[in-house]
Amino acid sequence: MKDISVGILGTGKYVPDNRLTNEQLEKMVETNNDWIVTMTGIKERRIVGEGQATSDLAYEASLRAMAAAGVTADQIDLIIVATITPDMFFPSTACLLQEKLGAKRAAAYDLSAACSGFIYGVASATGFIKMGMYKHVLVVGAESLSRITDYSDRNTCILFGDGAGAVVLGEVPEGRGFRSFELGADGSGGELLRICGGGSRLPSSEQTVADRRHFIEMNGREVFKFAVRIMGGAAEEALAKAGLSKENIDLLIPHQANIRIIQSALDRLNLTNDKCMINIDKYGNMSAASIPVALAEAVEEGRVKEGDCLVFVGFGGGLTWGASTLIW
Ligand code: UT7
Repeated sequence: MKDISVGILGTGKYVPDNRLTNEQLEKMVETNNDWIVTMTGIKERRIVGEGQATSDLAYEASLRAMAAAGVTADQIDLIIVATITPDMFFPSTACLLQEKLGAKRAAAYDLSAACSGFIYGVASATGFIKMGMYKHVLVVGAESLSRITDYSDRNTCILFGDGAGAVVLGEVPEGRGFRSFELGADGSGGELLRICGGGSRLPSSEQTVADRRHFIEMNGREVFKFAVRIMGGAAEEALAKAGLSKENIDLLIPHQANIRIIQSALDRLNLTNDKCMINIDKYGNMSAASIPVALAEAVEEGRVKEGDCLVFVGFGGGLTWGASTLIW
C-alpha cells in the first residue's frame, strides 16, 4: 500500500457575536476582573445567541475550512465532530452538519473526548486516509459550553466560551503533514470534570435539575495539576515519536484552558511566548473547539509558513489527553 502523507488542506473558524466580559460576570457571581485575568488569562468569551446551537457554529467553521481547502461538499467522505455539547443526544451533530452542508456522500459521527476531542479526531481521520478508505475528511471541534455552564458557580462560569474550528484533511506532498500522534486516557480521573445528570445512570428528572446536575462539575485544582503534568509530557512524547526535538518547534498550538497551564507547558518545552498561539484572552476555554480555532487564527494571522513544525497539545475531561506533530 502506498504510504500517503496526510495533512491539513484548509482551516476555518467561527465564533458567535455575543461577548461575555469579566465585568459582566462580576455582576453575576462573587468574582472580579483582576482575579480572572491573573488566575486564567481570560478577558472575555463568546456566547451562542438564542436559537443557535453547536451544529450552527460547526456549519460556519466548516464552510470556511472547505473554501480554504478548495473542497466542495460532495468531495467530503467523512465528517467527524468532536464535541461535548451536541445539539441533542442523537442524531449526532455530525449528521446534522452533513445535512446542513449537503455533504451527501459523507459518513458522519461525533467523537467524545472533551477538550482533547480535536486531536483524537484528526488522529482518527489520518488513519482513515492513510488506509486508503477516504480522501477528504472534515474534522470539526465545536462547542456551546454556555449551555452546560452553571452561571451561579464561580469556579466554572468564568472559564468557558462557545465557538467552532474546522479542518479538511487530505493527501499532501511527501515530507509534509502529520508526523505523529500521542493519545491517552485515565478514566480514574473521570469524576474531576463531568456532567452526571441526563445520562443513563442519572436520567433527567425534576430532582436532577433542582440539584443542578445538568451543569459542568469540576475540581479545578486537581484538573489543573493533571494538566500541568500532562501537557509538556504529551508534547515531548509526540516529538520523540516523530524523531523531532523541542528545538524543531516553530509554533505550539495548545488547548486554551488557562494561561498558567499554557505557560507551564512553554517552560517545560523551553519555548518563548512568540512560539505559542495564545487567544484565551478573547475566547476562554472552548473545549474541543479551542485548538482548531487557535490554528485557524494562526493561519489567518500569517503565523504558519510552509515547512513549519507545529505541535498541538490538549487535555480534558475523561481524563483524556492528546498531542500531535505536523509539518505544514
Ligand atoms: O479544559 C479543561 C477544563 N478545566 C480546566 O482547565 C480547569 C483547570 N483549573 C484551573 O484553571 C484553576 O483550578 C481555576 C482557574 C479554575 C482556579 O484556580 P486555582 O488556583 O485552582 O484556585 P482555587 O480553586 O484553589 O481557588 C483559590 C481561591 C479560593 O479562595 P480561598 O479558599 O483561597 O479563600 C477560591 O474560593 O480563589 C477563590 N476563587 C475565586 N475568587 C474569585 C475561586 N474562583 C473564583 C472566582 N473569583 N471566579
